[in-house]
Amino acid sequence: MAPVKVTKICCIGAGYVGGPTCAVIALKCPHITVTIVDLNQARVDAWNSPDFKLPIYEPGLEEVVREARGRNLFFSTDVDKGILEADLIFVSVNTPTKKSGVGAGFAADLNYVELATRRIAQVATSSKIVVEKSTVPCRTAESMRTILEANSKPNCHFDILSNPEFLAEGTAITDLFAPDRVLIGSLQTPEGISACASLTEVYANWVPKDRILNVGLWSSELSKLAANAMLAQRISSINALSAICEATGANIDEVAHAIGYDTRIGPKFLKASVGFGGSCFQKDILNLVYLSESLHLPEVAAYWRQVVEMNEHQKRRFSKRVVDTMFNTITGKRIAVLGFAFKADTGDTRESAAITLIRDFQSEKAYVNVYDPQVVEEQIWTDLAEASPLVPEEQIKKQVRICKSAMEACKDAEAVVIATEWKEFNEINWEEVYQSMNKPAFVFDGRLLVDAEKLRNIGFKVVTIGRP
Ligand SMILES: NC(=O)c1ccc[n+]([C@@H]2O[C@H](COP(=O)([O-])OP(=O)(O)OC[C@H]3O[C@@H](n4cnc5c(N)ncnc54)[C@H](O)[C@@H]3O)[C@@H](O)[C@H]2O)c1
Repeated sequence: MAPVKVTKICCIGAGYVGGPTCAVIALKCPHITVTIVDLNQARVDAWNSPDFKLPIYEPGLEEVVREARGRNLFFSTDVDKGILEADLIFVSVNTPTKKSGVGAGFAADLNYVELATRRIAQVATSSKIVVEKSTVPCRTAESMRTILEANSKPNCHFDILSNPEFLAEGTAITDLFAPDRVLIGSLQTPEGISACASLTEVYANWVPKDRILNVGLWSSELSKLAANAMLAQRISSINALSAICEATGANIDEVAHAIGYDTRIGPKFLKASVGFGGSCFQKDILNLVYLSESLHLPEVAAYWRQVVEMNEHQKRRFSKRVVDTMFNTITGKRIAVLGFAFKADTGDTRESAAITLIRDFQSEKAYVNVYDPQVVEEQIWTDLAEASPLVPEEQIKKQVRICKSAMEACKDAEAVVIATEWKEFNEINWEEVYQSMNKPAFVFDGRLLVDAEKLRNIGFKVVTIGRP
């Protein structure tokens, strides 16, 4: 079967994945028309904004959109038109953890994937290649196929591919320009192999062919969950070791450096911190836990669950260390929290450690000043309200103040907590900060960011993860 030559792509979902991924496809493939559709009017308007005030912050993204938008890249809320015109459709909608019903707290909520799939079946009048871009549990493609086949019009044939996205927020554009690998899963039938060849040709416009891996559908789906589980496991492992360091006098940086020299281990992703966040790690591991339990593999489920439990423990441990160090009470004290995004170079706050820390400080009746260079104010209020559903909004607003700069946040505070590793926190004038704070002035570095010795010389009491 000769592969279809893709000339029109539609991406359903203009979020952190659909937006950057398909913008880069448009940039690298000027001969392909790429339309990114979303039901969220405000998001689409932001993607289309004349002054390029895009809905997500990602270094390099604006340049990509500036070059391709209006040429062969379009953003729209007209989902049906996008579906009708495309030869290939990416489904890149959100798959959050289920909040209620069977599997609540663990399983992925596949409602958005199902609705998008049903829409494709209902609207399409010609054959399409449908690509799962969202992270989904193993064998979701089978459900998509059943829905598509049961609802399609005569002469419409759908091939389903799995093409999970491995970009990391904060480095999405460089990751997409030079991916470690592109994974495409397909059924090993002539149609499946042909559809896989069509998508491979799209990526081959800029990705070397030996980096495009073709595997079976189920392996592809599972590989995405497995990759995130292994990455998160590394963080929980180093964080578990950081607790031992604090208790013994070892230094986690030195330990990480030493073990990272082993080529079997490698140096990346060995940085201790206040805990991982982001929309994916926890969700995908819980998904794997649910999958393992459904497959009657309780030991496997328990093994992966521990990675998430360790992460929760690390956040709790850090909050407790703040309280313990500040003479066992932070009631009425002012704490400056620097950073609210789950990591640097993104405005994304999903599962951010800062949210848990601020909630803990609030429940200890402290006052909190927050500053983040990218996160918008409404997002901070929404996240804090969700984290403390029983606390009235006025109470939260009495205890928390959102500041316009790190300097403003630190003024008159008793302690500074570094929750996100924004580079600018390293460039703060710490002498000036020290002068403006109440004494003793504490710095709690949850990201191993600042030069502790330098700060101690200024007069700060510095507490760093993984050091006694
Ligand atoms: N964020 C990441 O770093 C990352 C990395 C790799 C994979 N993923 C996976 O990619 C998927 C998308 O993640 P995200 O961070 O982009 O989510 P997101 O919430 O930022 O974006 C999803 C978008 O889909 C839209 N949407 C939902 N249902 C729709 C429908 N029926 N029609 C049109 N639009 C619809 C929503 O309005 C939203 O804008 C998830 O499965 C996630 O696990 C995310």
